[in-house]
Amino acid sequence: MADVYILGIESSCDETAAAVVRSGEQVISNAVFSQIATHQPYGGVVPELAAREHLRAIVPVVRKALADAAQSYQSIDALAVTQGPGLAGALLVGVSYAKALAFALDKPLIAVNHLEGHIHAVLLEERQKGHHEVEFPLMTLVVSGGHTHLYLVQQNGPNPLWTYRNIGHTRDDAAGEAFDKVAKLLALGYPGGPIIDKLAKHGRSDAVRFGRAQIKHRQRGDRSPAPERPHFDFSFSGLKTAVLRYVETQGLEPAIEQRRVALSQIAKPRAEDVLALCDGTTLDLVASFQRAVIEDLVQKTLAAAREYEVNTLFVSGGVAANSELRQSFEQQAAQEGVPVYFPSRPLSTDNAAMIAAAAYPKFLIGEFAAPDFSAEAAWPL
Ligand code: KG4
Ligand code: ZN
Repeated sequence: MADVYILGIESSCDETAAAVVRSGEQVISNAVFSQIATHQPYGGVVPELAAREHLRAIVPVVRKALADAAQSYQSIDALAVTQGPGLAGALLVGVSYAKALAFALDKPLIAVNHLEGHIHAVLLEERQKGHHEVEFPLMTLVVSGGHTHLYLVQQNGPNPLWTYRNIGHTRDDAAGEAFDKVAKLLALGYPGGPIIDKLAKHGRSDAVRFGRAQIKHRQRGDRSPAPERPHFDFSFSGLKTAVLRYVETQGLEPAIEQRRVALSQIAKPRAEDVLALCDGTTLDLVASFQRAVIEDLVQKTLAAAREYEVNTLFVSGGVAANSELRQSFEQQAAQEGVPVYFPSRPLSTDNAAMIAAAAYPKFLIGEFAAPDFSAEAAWPL
């Protein structure tokens, strides 16, 4: 079959991204405009500002993706866009722009679920390395700022589309959200994940003992029959509260306030700047928090992998960029004898290459978006 060039567009959260991917297996260009600087003063994504920034960035980002790929609007075969889940106003910018562009160019448009994009980022990365055969069924953990979801993924016969069964998700905060909130609480900067990843290397991860989240899998009054197999749900808000308690009992507030003031005077604080402003107790707390999140993610994912007897593990989403998480998964999955795959760091966090890659199987079977489709902020996979 001839090469198929798909232009992907992603605007679900705080990254405006466009990319060209060839036949679902080769990233030709991958342009990302990050809004971190816009949201940094607020310690989290501000939805209205995100939509405004997407509006500003979308045209230049798409032009850059095409130019970097030495492609033109006319030469691409199809467009793909994130339909959801995500921030409604943010999604709407990408969806409206992609619809208008596809209409003007008379090219097919494919609507992609953001979570399916994160999963396909792993496959894309493996295909780029020449590894084409994935052994199904596979267990996928999508772990980001908005999601902590476990999916059992199957491929049925010659149909190129995969099927997804959600077998666990977070009951409250997503894991990345917990990283961001704890970083905000401790005045470490935004986004929290990358900075905690770096600081944790300087602390003792066994210094603070956090209890494991207790999750009741059947709600009181729930009369539905018990599921055949257990669910593997997560909960991280208790951990965040435990960090707050520790701050109070150890009297860390004055040091946090000092750090907040000191960091506000540095234009673009680097990890070394933050490290220099952290004492041993704070570094131990950060390392112990990270260990608690990772232990929970790894243990539940591996328990689910055993329960569903999968042959492969995929870990994707922004938090999959975490170095301790990767190490821990690699070690423990090796003990279980299950291969585990991650995307490279640029394909772990939000990008449009994963959207173009996830669109390719849909292109093959002609699953195109209806002209009147719209953004879906809470679109489940
Ligand atoms: O996938 P992503 O870019 O956007 C969402 O779909 O949410 O993920 C962003 C999240 C943020 O919460 C960020 O703090 C977290 O991923 N993150 C990390 C790391 N890099 C990004 N968390 C832990 N360790 C990292 N190295
Ligand atoms: Zn994401």
